[in-house]
This record gives sequence, structure tokens and C-alpha cells, in this order.
Amino acid sequence: MEKIIYILLLIILEHDFYKDVNTLYYPTSYDYIVNKNNKLTSDFIPNDLEIVDDTFSLEGRMLRKKAKDAFLDMAKQAKKEGYNIILVSAFRTYEYQEELYNNYKLEKGRNYADMCSARAGHSEHQTGLAIDVSDNSLDYDNFESTKEFNWMINNAYKYGFILRYPKGKFHITGFKYEPWHFRYVGDIAKDIYESRLTLEEFFS
Ligand code: DAL
Ligand code: ZN
Repeated sequence: MEKIIYILLLIILEHDFYKDVNTLYYPTSYDYIVNKNNKLTSDFIPNDLEIVDDTFSLEGRMLRKKAKDAFLDMAKQAKKEGYNIILVSAFRTYEYQEELYNNYKLEKGRNYADMCSARAGHSEHQTGLAIDVSDNSLDYDNFESTKEFNWMINNAYKYGFILRYPKGKFHITGFKYEPWHFRYVGDIAKDIYESRLTLEEFFS
């Protein structure tokens, strides 16, 4: 049922998503928007990427330096309080995102792919500022039911992260609810958290 609702919404909103796309050239700030209407160039790779310590991450995951430091501060504090936050996915190249999206499309069709995977150039993961997290199970599909999710919801903003694709905001973000996907935005995270707005609404 939920899937049918999303597909109907996609059809209704199709005229807005992936139309009149604005290209961002080598952004360096922390609070810009990448979405279905704002894309990065295929050669964009942030120049301050660093590998995240694998105590709190799957091996080799990279984030921009400030986001990496903030993530580690957050994961360490969570650990002290008894919560295990693990970084499952972080920076992705344009090419890797293209592969992910195409695999979704082949497996589940274009509509489903567009609900949950960004087309290449349109993924926040290419910014080096997005994180997909899970608890120790590494099953992020189940993240919403974990105590770690609850901790993230109440604390992530203190470290500059926001829940990027909240429930019920598909018509604005273009993506279905992703309890595991957070985005580093820096100091404005607290204002966004308190406003309960999406990044798109906050800036409009
Ligand atoms: N799953 C998010 C929307 C992405 O593909 O970037
Ligand atoms: Zn993600």
C-alpha cells in the first residue's frame, strides 16, 4: 500500500523532479542542497575527504574532514552512553552512484529506483557530507526499530547532522523515508532540528 502511494505521488510530482535542474560547480560549503533539482558535476570529488576510523565504520568509508570529525565525536559519545553507531555508507563517486541507481532500476523498475535511489550527480553521498548509519547488526533497513535510531534522532543535531529524508516529506525531498540517512550541515543543524523542516523547506 505504502509503495502504491509513493508511486502515485511520483507520477503526480514527476513534472517537478529532475526538471529545470541547477548544476552546482565544486561547492565547498557545508549547507548546500543536492537533490532531484540540484546536481553535482560528474567529476566532483570534495578535496578534503578523509577515511573514517574503522572502529565506528565499515572499512574505507570517507567523509569531508569536518563531517568526519563530527561523526567520530558523535559515535564516541554514543558509545559512552551505550549505543553503537556504525557508518555503513558515506562518500560515493558519481560513477558508483550511477551503478547503484541502475541496479535498483534493473531489479525493481524506474519508479521504485526513483523513490529510494538518487540518479548520478543528484546524490548527497557525492558531497561527502551524508552518512548512512546502523547499529551493530549493520542492517540499516531495520535501523528505525533500534535504540541507536532513537539516540540519533535526539542527539545528531548537536554534532551538526540532520535526518535528511523524514517520514511524510516525500513530496518535498523526493525520497521515501530513510531513518538511516543523516546529513552534516554544521551549525544550522540545531535550527533545522527545532524547526522540524527539511533542508529544502528551511532554505525556501
Ligand atoms: N538513498 C539516497 C537518496 C541516495 O541515493 O542518495
Ligand atoms: Zn544515504
